[in-house]
Amino acid sequence: LNHIAVLTSGGDAPGMNAGIRAVVRSCAFHDIKCSGIYRGYQGLIENDFEVLNARSVRNIINRGGTFLKSARSKEFRTKEGRQKAYENLISQGVDALVVIGGDGTFNGAVVFNEEHDFPIVGMPGTIDNDINGTDHTIGYDTALNTVVEAIDKIRDTANSHNRLFLVEVMGRDAGDIALNAGIGAGAEEILIPEEDLGTDRLLESLKRSKKSGKTSSIIVVSEGDKIGKNIFELAEFIETNLEDYEVRVTVLGHIQRGGTPSCYDRVLASRLGIGAVDALLAGERDIMIGTVHGKVTSVPFKEAVAGRNKIDLDLIRVADITST
Ligand code: F6P
Repeated sequence: LNHIAVLTSGGDAPGMNAGIRAVVRSCAFHDIKCSGIYRGYQGLIENDFEVLNARSVRNIINRGGTFLKSARSKEFRTKEGRQKAYENLISQGVDALVVIGGDGTFNGAVVFNEEHDFPIVGMPGTIDNDINGTDHTIGYDTALNTVVEAIDKIRDTANSHNRLFLVEVMGRDAGDIALNAGIGAGAEEILIPEEDLGTDRLLESLKRSKKSGKTSSIIVVSEGDKIGKNIFELAEFIETNLEDYEVRVTVLGHIQRGGTPSCYDRVLASRLGIGAVDALLAGERDIMIGTVHGKVTSVPFKEAVAGRNKIDLDLIRVADITST
């Protein structure tokens, strides 16, 4: 193995820079040439490569986002796009590729592999934590902390006004951010796609809380929840059906994707970056490197993206009991 290239693709996540740094420095350690590819698969198609050495990645471990930039490439979804990408890899003399991203990134890698039989290893980078075969994805821990910090601030104002706040968090179809940040921030209710509470039970629960002496409430709403109303409709519904609560909505949005990566995400990304290069050196391919029970391990891409249901039901119980 003489030349490894690395790219970040899909939604950015805090800790991706630490992951790139680990890949680049591992290549330097093993005396392998390393190239960075800008803007994910799109840059691969447009031949946007740059040779990186150990010093190219200084002062980035502490930075959110990804200095290689990211994209959701439409062109890579086409056979012609993938053909161009393959030709660029060959003309640049690249022997293997490390892709950092989420399910879209890994699905792209699977198709690319089927057509071009090229060694690719993946690292899970997404705030959503919606990937099989890893305890956590890079960026998830930072996003949780960002959400908890934001809700702590909302709590101050909710409490001062006896208001009920609906706070929408990201996660796409996964409720991991909502459930864990909700418990951490002491939310009253947490709406996640994995468990539909239903509007009736939500109202009952809010009425019970009011009776028990609560004067303000925070409900964390996962963007993918299945309650059947968007967050603004839900706010109206609650205000109409519950007396003496003023309802307000906060959509946290992309602040959840930015910011300084937590130590956990930096260490995770560093371990997975080393693991990715180790795997390629061992001749492995078509796999994602993750941690399971804290140990670095790997799963085939196809398993990493297979429908997952990682929500821990115990956590729902913890949320229910601690919010009474
Ligand atoms: O996958 C990360 C994520 O932030 C999701 O939580 C969210 O649904 C989506 O990306 C938003 O995508 P975009 O940044 O393209 O609006």
